Amino acid sequence: MDNRIIKQPSGKLGVLIVGLNGAVSTTFLAGVYSVRKGLALPIGSLTQMGTIRIGNRIENNFPLIKDFVPLTSIDDLVFGGWDIRDENCFESALYAKVLSEKDLSNVADELKSIKPMRGVFDPDFVKRLQGSYIKTGKNKYELMMQLRDDIQFFKEFNSLDRVVVVWSGSTETFIERKEVHSSKENFINGMIHSDKDISPSMLYAFASIAEGVPFINGSPNLSVDIPAIVKFANEMNVPIAGKDFKTGQTLIKTVIAPMLKMRLLGLHGWFSNNILGNRDGEVLDDPGSFKTKEESKLSVLDSILQPKIYPDLYSDFYHKVRINYYPPKGDNKEGWDHIDIFGWLGYLMELKINFLCRDSILAAPILLDLVLFTDLAQRSNMKGIQEWLSVFFKSPMHSSNTVPEHDLFIQMMKLKNTLRKLVNVSPITHIEMNEKEIDELICCE
Ligand SMILES: NC(=O)c1ccc[n+]([C@@H]2O[C@H](COP(=O)([O-])OP(=O)(O)OC[C@H]3O[C@@H](n4cnc5c(N)ncnc54)[C@H](O)[C@@H]3O)[C@@H](O)[C@H]2O)c1
Repeated sequence: MDNRIIKQPSGKLGVLIVGLNGAVSTTFLAGVYSVRKGLALPIGSLTQMGTIRIGNRIENNFPLIKDFVPLTSIDDLVFGGWDIRDENCFESALYAKVLSEKDLSNVADELKSIKPMRGVFDPDFVKRLQGSYIKTGKNKYELMMQLRDDIQFFKEFNSLDRVVVVWSGSTETFIERKEVHSSKENFINGMIHSDKDISPSMLYAFASIAEGVPFINGSPNLSVDIPAIVKFANEMNVPIAGKDFKTGQTLIKTVIAPMLKMRLLGLHGWFSNNILGNRDGEVLDDPGSFKTKEESKLSVLDSILQPKIYPDLYSDFYHKVRINYYPPKGDNKEGWDHIDIFGWLGYLMELKINFLCRDSILAAPILLDLVLFTDLAQRSNMKGIQEWLSVFFKSPMHSSNTVPEHDLFIQMMKLKNTLRKLVNVSPITHIEMNEKEIDELICCE
């Protein structure tokens, strides 16, 4: 990454959202318009409110991230996307009931003006939804090509300089990587023969990369996380990122687990329970979609706690994740964690965490940050998996020769040091003594 030249963010950036009419998407859109109008602050957004330290602590130099690296302004974003329901985004935001009618009325005209393009949908992959506004084609290849046409049309119609695609659509049923996912040739052949292991989200991912457009996966679906598409992204010099926005319970988990490991406290069991009543909860009520989410949520602890390195503390813990669909809760999810730990001489202790959160309120700023950072990556000639964006994901994509990093603090250090590197500023190691001072310290011991 040395001497990297970052292309300045001139012109407009298109944001195409798959699942445009969903709770996360409409909360994101209403939020961005409210911020643009000066009606709200972009709370929770690292790109809008976060700072980055430069130099030694005593220098007291903490610029805003958006002033430190050339990010696209939120005023230069143009929105569009796909869904399987023919509604404008105002109607969908009312249905989602995340934001109050009063807050929505302030941006009603803007939301009413955004309507989805017909989605590519296959009920075998999302059992609890019916698509009434969908594309038809003779095979999956043809459907993928229609998505490419949509991207080209959106770009030309709005005179855009660049586009980013984000999957914020429903969680698809669990599938494993197969031969058809192993190479671009197999994948293209699979699309032509409408292979049953090619999901709609993979078609959106392939179409985006074929158009030279970065793809971000906010759900736990495999989508872009298959060798065929990862290799294709590298070949096309396109950045990709995923999987599954890290919002509520897993955010907390990736803070608590590093703390246990730091203090060498052992773990007997961790039971994570969720109650939620939005459409996402209804989709996850299907065992196939739940399995996809479960795998994503379960992956976290092993990689942070490293049972092979700490067998006395972490080789035998029981980790259970439940998601319960309970309509009265709506988007206000309740995450409840019961954690059995042990300390000095094996004495038992318990930790209970009850997070009464709002799912889409936590996810919306992440969507914004991912769009702006992925666009920055593309303008910086970065390609393939963007591991430095792991802080935003429950199940971060990683290259085949590395293990994922789940620890929230390490993830954030990685992100900020990547930003420093992009503009040729020294990374921060937190060793604030120079070599002479370290030598003096050792002499004193
Ligand atoms: N809200 C959170 O905190 C959070 C956290 C992590 C991940 N996620 C994931 O983000 C995604 C969106 O969540 P949400 O709460 O907005 O869900 P939602 O059900 O409100 O929205 C999903 C939208 O996707 C549409 N859709 C489904 N299949 C489609 C297809 N093939 N093409 C186009 N549109 C399609 C649906 O019609 C719906 O409008 C889900 O996969 C969810 O698991 C959400």
